[in-house]
Amino acid sequence: MMTPSATAVVGLQWGDEGKGKIVDLLAADHDVIVRYNGGANAGHTVVIDGDRYALHLLPSGILSPDRVCVVGNGVVVDPQQLLIEIKSLRERGREVQPHQLLVSDRSHVVMPYHKEHDGALETVLARAADHGDENLSIGTTRRGIGPTYADKVHRSLAIRMGDLLDKAVLRRRLDIVCAIRSRELEALGVDAPPLDAAALATEYHALGEQLAPYITDTVYALHDAVRAGKRLLFEGANACLLDIDHGTFPYVTSSNCSTLGIPPGTGLPGSVIAETVGIVKAYGTRVGEGPFPTEDLGASGERIRERGHEYGTTTGRPRRCGWLDLVAVRYSAMVCGCTSLAVMLLDVLSGFETLKLCTGYRLSDGTVTDRFFPDARKLAMVEPIWETMPGWAEEIDSITSEDQLPAAARDYLDRIADFVGCPVQIASVGPDRVQTIRMTEAVGA
Ligand code: IMP
Repeated sequence: MMTPSATAVVGLQWGDEGKGKIVDLLAADHDVIVRYNGGANAGHTVVIDGDRYALHLLPSGILSPDRVCVVGNGVVVDPQQLLIEIKSLRERGREVQPHQLLVSDRSHVVMPYHKEHDGALETVLARAADHGDENLSIGTTRRGIGPTYADKVHRSLAIRMGDLLDKAVLRRRLDIVCAIRSRELEALGVDAPPLDAAALATEYHALGEQLAPYITDTVYALHDAVRAGKRLLFEGANACLLDIDHGTFPYVTSSNCSTLGIPPGTGLPGSVIAETVGIVKAYGTRVGEGPFPTEDLGASGERIRERGHEYGTTTGRPRRCGWLDLVAVRYSAMVCGCTSLAVMLLDVLSGFETLKLCTGYRLSDGTVTDRFFPDARKLAMVEPIWETMPGWAEEIDSITSEDQLPAAARDYLDRIADFVGCPVQIASVGPDRVQTIRMTEAVGA
């Protein structure tokens, strides 16, 4: 029997809610920080003492000394990117020691041909749409995420981190993989010489050697940690509405980014989780294609984008912006089993005379529902039902306690908690660690 003691942190919208900051804060109360899904498509920005760290693969907890960070078997690892992040931390005086970072030998490797395939397929599909076909492009980050997970599910052509350590095994596999992938890339219109298995084997074996001190069986390491009474913190990448099974399919990513991905992505049973913190941005954003019922294409959306610096950490793309969709958030909180909420970027809403919240959907036949549709085609047909609340004029990015919150901001948090049925325990009013209000009396409790 395992006593539940772990915490999970998960985004409840379409990503970029500010999970990195909360993981970084909670890391102080935990011993082991674990990523269970996704890859370098995720982007966490953490600001410490005014210093900005942009991480894609390393768990945000890596910035807290004396914490062990685990990249679980459910993650897809781009070894080049991982080494870039380790090196950039080293250059800023934060050496990543082998005991500080454990990378699963079973996590799958993002190879260059995965990235090429991702980009080429997106281009072909977007071009087809330009010629009048249905737009089937997803608007991916082009980081090779989908093709790598596809190889995992296909099995035969997959390469796992452990495979990088045996050059002969890697070479034999790549001989076959490169022959097949070269033909596929050519069919997708990639104008490049055929993939060179020998060169790739040499390059990726060398990357594996550099990462070898970190590569291990993380499943045993995690079970050992739990048995030793260590507190685990699961850091979800991407977000619940991008979950391959429970998000707005097909405009999702290729992993289970809800908390339901924790057991398969780590080898731990879900029963270890005691608390799940749902991260909610105070408004809505989305990157890439797919329905976004509360999107605001006018001045309010533009104002949110500029005040919130809503440009992608990973791709630099401007994010689509709009109002908070409580129907969607309540659905995600249900799927993820949230026990509390952290509301992020509340400061961005200062200065709006009124705020809009979506509390239901009107369907094309006129009926009304407060249930979410995790299916892009159905969600694209809904019209939001709005509730409006008074805004607040004051800037709130320098306040430090909940009693300094304007009454309207407090009411806004209350409404979120009431609708979602989950207390708000943290309100964030800026990127820095100090710009965090811990609600002593959880709103909605
Ligand atoms: P992929 O994960 O690169 O395949 O992209 C699939 C979809 O998920 C695209 O719409 C991306 O913009 C979106 N996406 C993936 N990761 C994130 C994230 O961390 N934040 C926001 N959107 C993401």
